[in-house]
Amino acid sequence: MSKQTEITRKTVKDIARAKGGTPLVMLTAYDAPMAELMDPHVDMLLVGDSLGMVVHGLPSTVGVTMEMMILHGQAVMRGSQQAFVVVDMPFGSYETSEDQAFLNAVRIMKETGCQAVKIESGAYAAKQIAHLVERGIPVMGHVGLRPQAINVDGGFRAKGRTETEREIVINEARAADRAGAFAIVIEGVAEDLAAEITAEVSCPTIGIGASAACDGQVLVAQDMLGLFDWAPKFVRRYADLRTETETAVKAYADDVRARKFPGKAETYSLRKP
Ligand code: KIV
Repeated sequence: MSKQTEITRKTVKDIARAKGGTPLVMLTAYDAPMAELMDPHVDMLLVGDSLGMVVHGLPSTVGVTMEMMILHGQAVMRGSQQAFVVVDMPFGSYETSEDQAFLNAVRIMKETGCQAVKIESGAYAAKQIAHLVERGIPVMGHVGLRPQAINVDGGFRAKGRTETEREIVINEARAADRAGAFAIVIEGVAEDLAAEITAEVSCPTIGIGASAACDGQVLVAQDMLGLFDWAPKFVRRYADLRTETETAVKAYADDVRARKFPGKAETYSLRKP
């Protein structure tokens, strides 16, 4: 039996069963060592296209490619054992047609071994979601603030603050749910809207900046680990890796310049015969 088939991971059924129960825990992961550290503590790992910004230094997720998603997806699959792994479909890989979405989703599934893909789902994407689900690919929807659409929205703006926008977000969620999405990320919306969507759709909702009214939560790992000097209002920092890293790098640089590193303990010596 191959290594992959020996691994027992969470399945879509486990995720669906969590609706209305203990909140689902999801974090983004982009590499094997972090995936390994997170794996025992989470239900799902998301190889988010946020990697364009938090790993590759791009100004938005618009420039992220299929190759980037596949490379990081493979690393996260290697590092994790039990988490349900979802890989984002990048901007431009699914919008044109159901066929385009299917061919690219198949590539992601085959080349990474992940369990599902995520599509930033404006109402138009319901066709793509249904097409993929009918053909064996679990799809997570993503409504509200859709980072791939920032050039239309004019920036990263919370959504659903006017009646018209509210209707749009609710319709996006309804469409993704009816199309067969196994879960829906709700990003950047007020609590009452998140609560209304969560009560209406049949699948679990996963909030990011969408209050505790959702069936689960996701955060970008680098944000919650405190790697950046700025984070959105909805992030709680559980660590201060920025300060820790800066302190460690400075100490290393000081030691090297003062010839205090490497010391005896870090130096090979001749083996005694
Ligand atoms: O790309 C990402 O990390 C995401 C989360 C913000 C949900 O889509």
